[in-house]
Amino acid sequence: MPIPIVHVERLIPGKTSKLTLKAPHIAAVARPGHFVILRTHAMGERIPLTIADTDPDKGTIVIVYLVMGKTTATLETMGEGDEILDLCGPLGHPTHITPCGTVVCVGGGTGIAAMHHIAKGHAKAGNRVVAVIGARSKDLLLFENELRSFAHEMLISTDDGSYGHKGLVTELLRDRLEKDKQVGEVVAVGPVPMMDAVAKTTLPFGVHTTVSLNPIMVDGIGMCGACRVTVDGKTRFACVDGPEFDGHKVDFAELRLRLGAYRTQEQQSLALFKEAHNG
Ligand code: FAD
Ligand code: NAD
Ligand code: FES
Repeated sequence: MPIPIVHVERLIPGKTSKLTLKAPHIAAVARPGHFVILRTHAMGERIPLTIADTDPDKGTIVIVYLVMGKTTATLETMGEGDEILDLCGPLGHPTHITPCGTVVCVGGGTGIAAMHHIAKGHAKAGNRVVAVIGARSKDLLLFENELRSFAHEMLISTDDGSYGHKGLVTELLRDRLEKDKQVGEVVAVGPVPMMDAVAKTTLPFGVHTTVSLNPIMVDGIGMCGACRVTVDGKTRFACVDGPEFDGHKVDFAELRLRLGAYRTQEQQSLALFKEAHNG
């Protein structure tokens, strides 16, 4: 069923957009941590994107994407009133949210948008939310105001020091954990090296750490094996067993390798898309 795009916000022009989609059946049941798989057109690939927010009354969901390759570049050409060919979801297990006192929610780059939905769920459950967000520079920082509306504490970093702490989110996280031994859980969403670094940072503190993995996915329902990850030495499928896992048990080196498996083809596909679009 075609899915209308009802609102578009170019958060970082040419790089990151926020789309509000009319999808009442998904909006009614989606919970923090869920994701969708969409196709822009009949010959298009299926790409997974996390649900960054929902409005069940309006029947809408929000997705935020970083332009990486052909499909996200295609999405970037679409506007309000256009339709996405199909949308499958909600997929995956929702975030396991329990009363745990203080939860530190770490978001890196585009991952901040996905983390925001999880953090909101924790705040609604009565947990004290410490949001730690980081981007390369101030202009690339997302969802600061949205997070400020419910987070009890905000810590911000930029790699270049243009806003907040100069450095990485993991430096703020380490400081925060050193000052407060009562943190019940850490949640991290962002680039794979960042989630790996977050898990290594929390390990000596013994704080349970949840990461939201983003392996390549195809069907999203556990049949194709594309999203295979190793967790605690066992093969798991991120689409049906995750996408959230215990960060201390994930084989991040394997995940990085598998994410690069089709890099040549992805680059060729993007180059052809750009050629067709510019010419
Ligand atoms: P491609 O040229 O196809 O690939 C560029 C990069 O994306 C490569 O690193 C490749 O390894 C990775 N990739 C390619 N195809 C897939 C695929 N089918 N599944 C996963 N990764 C792929 N990105 C966001 O910007 N926002 C999100 O909210 C978000 N949520 C995600 C949630 C989940 C559960 C998963 C698994 C991934 C999520 N991603 C998210 C990553 C997003 O799916 C990829 O960036 C996207 O598929 C890239 O497609 P492309 O055609 O533009 O780029
Ligand atoms: P980026 O590379 O600009 O990094 C953003 C921030 O993350 C940095 O400013 C830094 O604070 C931190 N970081 C990065 N590498 C680090 C490291 N090695 N150690 C410690 N901290 C580090 O981010 P981007 O270009 O916006 O990429 C976002 C990524 O998030 C993409 O790979 C996308 O696929 C992924 N993503 C995942 C999901 C999900 O649900 N799993 C959702 C959205 C986005
Ligand atoms: Fe096919 Fe997970 S995407 S098994």
